[in-house]
Amino acid sequence: MRILTGVQPSGKLHLGNYFSVIRKLVDYQNKSDLFCFVADLHALTTFSSAKSQTENTYDAVCDFLALGIDPNKCAFWIQSEVPEVTELTWYLSMSITVPKLELAHSYKDKVAKGIVPSGGLFFYPVLMAADILAFNSDKVPVGKDQKQHLEYARDIAEKFNSQYGETFKLPEPEIDEETAIVPGVDGAKMSKSYGNTINFFDDEKKLKKSVMGILTDSAGVDESKDYEKSIIYSIHSLFLDESGKKDLQSRFTNPGTGYGDLKKALLETILDYFGPYRKEREKIAADPTYVRSVMKKGSDKARAASSQILDKVREKLGIGISKVSA
Ligand code: ADP
Ligand code: TRP
Repeated sequence: MRILTGVQPSGKLHLGNYFSVIRKLVDYQNKSDLFCFVADLHALTTFSSAKSQTENTYDAVCDFLALGIDPNKCAFWIQSEVPEVTELTWYLSMSITVPKLELAHSYKDKVAKGIVPSGGLFFYPVLMAADILAFNSDKVPVGKDQKQHLEYARDIAEKFNSQYGETFKLPEPEIDEETAIVPGVDGAKMSKSYGNTINFFDDEKKLKKSVMGILTDSAGVDESKDYEKSIIYSIHSLFLDESGKKDLQSRFTNPGTGYGDLKKALLETILDYFGPYRKEREKIAADPTYVRSVMKKGSDKARAASSQILDKVREKLGIGISKVSA
């Protein structure tokens, strides 16, 4: 079973990324054939400077390595270092229409906000389909917001198969309902683009600021609080097992604990949980030679796998003249 996923390096990792995708990946690399990459080409759709593009990519790589992605157990690479994917993007673009691409949420939402869309933004779902189809992926773990992109990948694969003959497997999305949408500090979906994230690799001071900024109602210390409606609870419960959740629930319902204390408890949980990863991250980030060598190994693995699919695709499309005989 090949499992593939990508994470866009357009900022620091947050709890939404961690609980929907990253935590599972470490598990998958022991049980399955895991393919995982840093989607730096997709990040160009929100480009600000070359410096931050490079830094964000390096940061994301270090984050994943520190969180336990083991290059010996999976294929882990940087998207732009596997050019087969961009080549496949072009081939796949013949298997989707402009009216269909105009329906993509990622594109429509930006247009609705008055942003003049680039061609790259419009093509985003095609590049993502290529990411997935270039590796014959069976399963793609993502957050709920990526559901439509997975549908595009399947549609494109089906259309290509019907146009040129059976070539691609149809990938299945894997969306974990419980952690499908992790709320941000304001209650909306936690997202870099909304500025409402809790970035677990931030220093303690910044983390504290984020956690203390979580929106609450006005219930006082002596009042019972509705944990089901609380953002603090929604986030904290992600770290807890059933008995931990019960304990936390009673701290909400029994009067005597204020929101300030509940936030402090959450902050402590975050610091404890990510403490060891934070130390590991510092070590890794200080050794770019090691990081580069690991990523080269990863892209070699990924290129070997995608080359096989690309050979098939080129043949189906009659690309090149290597097969012409006298
Ligand atoms: P962001 O929305 O912050 O830009 P990304 O688009 O980089 O995050 O998301 C990386 C992965 O994490 C994707 O699979 C995405 O669906 C998932 N993800 C991001 N935010 C959340 C969230 N709040 N809840 C659940 N999953 C999320
Ligand atoms: N678009 C995804 C996101 O924003 C990142 C991504 C790019 C991806 N290519 C992918 C995820 C392929 C899964 C599979 O989260």
